[in-house]
Amino acid sequence: MPINFSKVFYVYNPKSPFQYEALKNVNLTIKEGGFVALVGKTGSGKSTLISHLNALLHPTSGEVVIDDFVNSAEKKKRSRDIKALRQKVGLVFQFPEYQLFEETVEKDVAFGPKNFGVTNEEALKQAHEALGVVGLDPTFYQRSPFELSGGEKRKVAIAGILAIHPKILIVDEPTAGLDPRAAEETMTLFRKIHEEGTTIILVTHDMYNFQMEGVLDFKGDEKLRQDVEDNLVLGDVDVTNVTFGDGEVEVQCNPSDFEKAKDVLKGMNITDFDTAEVTFVPNEYVTLGDEDKQKMQDMLDELNECEDVQAVYHNVGNI
Ligand SMILES: Nc1ncnc2c1ncn2[C@@H]1O[C@H](COP(=O)(O)OP(=O)(O)O)[C@@H](O)[C@H]1O
Ligand SMILES: [Mg+2]
Repeated sequence: MPINFSKVFYVYNPKSPFQYEALKNVNLTIKEGGFVALVGKTGSGKSTLISHLNALLHPTSGEVVIDDFVNSAEKKKRSRDIKALRQKVGLVFQFPEYQLFEETVEKDVAFGPKNFGVTNEEALKQAHEALGVVGLDPTFYQRSPFELSGGEKRKVAIAGILAIHPKILIVDEPTAGLDPRAAEETMTLFRKIHEEGTTIILVTHDMYNFQMEGVLDFKGDEKLRQDVEDNLVLGDVDVTNVTFGDGEVEVQCNPSDFEKAKDVLKGMNITDFDTAEVTFVPNEYVTLGDEDKQKMQDMLDELNECEDVQAVYHNVGNI
C-alpha cells in the first residue's frame, strides 16, 4: 500500500486571524513495506502531515493517496471508507498514554478490534496477541493502565493499534519522554513489527538513534516553509549528508556507523572513492546547494549500480 502526497497544502483556521499554513507543497512517496523516519524540528508540520494519512485532516489543496483512498479537499469522504482506511493505517499519537481510558489493560487494547466489528472473544484474543508482541505478559491483562510506568503505558497504547493489524503503522514521537532503555526497547519493537511486513513511519525530531532504510527529512524553515532535505542511506548505514571537496569526501553519519560506512565505501569500486580521503562527521542537518545536490544525485546513481548497496534519495517538498 504505497503512500503518495502530491502538492499538499494544509491551512489551519483558514480565513481567520489565526490562519496558519502548516504544510506547503509537500510531495513525497513512501513505498510499501518501508521503514521511514519523518524528521524535522518542532512546529515543522510532522503531526499535521501524518494526520492526513488516516484522514483526521483533509488537505486544503492537493492530494494524499493511500492505496485506493484519496484524501483531498474536493471529495466528501464517506465514513465507511474512512473507517476502512483507519483499519489499514494505525496512528499512535504523541504521548498516546493520554488516550488510555479503559479500566484494564486488556479492555483498552481490545477496544480497537471491537470497534472494527469483531466479537468480544476475538477482540480479547487479538488484544492478548498484541500485548505479547509489545512484551507485556498476562500479568498485565487485568491491571489498570493508569498505574503503569510511562514506557508500559506507551506499550499498551501501541498494542491497542497493533491489535487492529494495520498495514501501515505511524507513530508520532515514539521515544519522547522515555528513558534510554525504554526508548531502545520501543525501537527494537518497531524493527520486529517491520520485519513482519508492516510499513512503519516514525515521526521524530531526533534521528540520532535511527538506522533504517529510508529517511524522509521534513524540515520546516522559518515555520512557514517546508525545506528540501536530502538523505542518503548506504546499506543499513544511515548517512545524512555527503560533501565533496578536492580529493575529499565528507560523510555525515551516526558515529557508531563510521566503521561500517567506511567498509561500505571501501567495498565499492568507485574511482572517486579510491583516491578520495573519506572523513566522517556526526549527523547534522544541512541544506545542500544545487551543485552538491547534483553531485549527490550522481553519486547515488553510481551507488545504485553497485550490488549490495542500496542508495535512497528523498526529496521532500519544493522550495
Ligand atoms: N490546531 C491548530 N491550529 C492552528 N495552528 C496549528 C494547529 N495545530 C498545529 N498548528 C501549527 O502548525 C504548525 C505545525 O504543527 P505540527 O504539525 O504539530 O508540527 P510538529 O508535529 O512538526 O511539531 C505549528 O506551527 C503549529 O503551531
Ligand atoms: Mg508533532
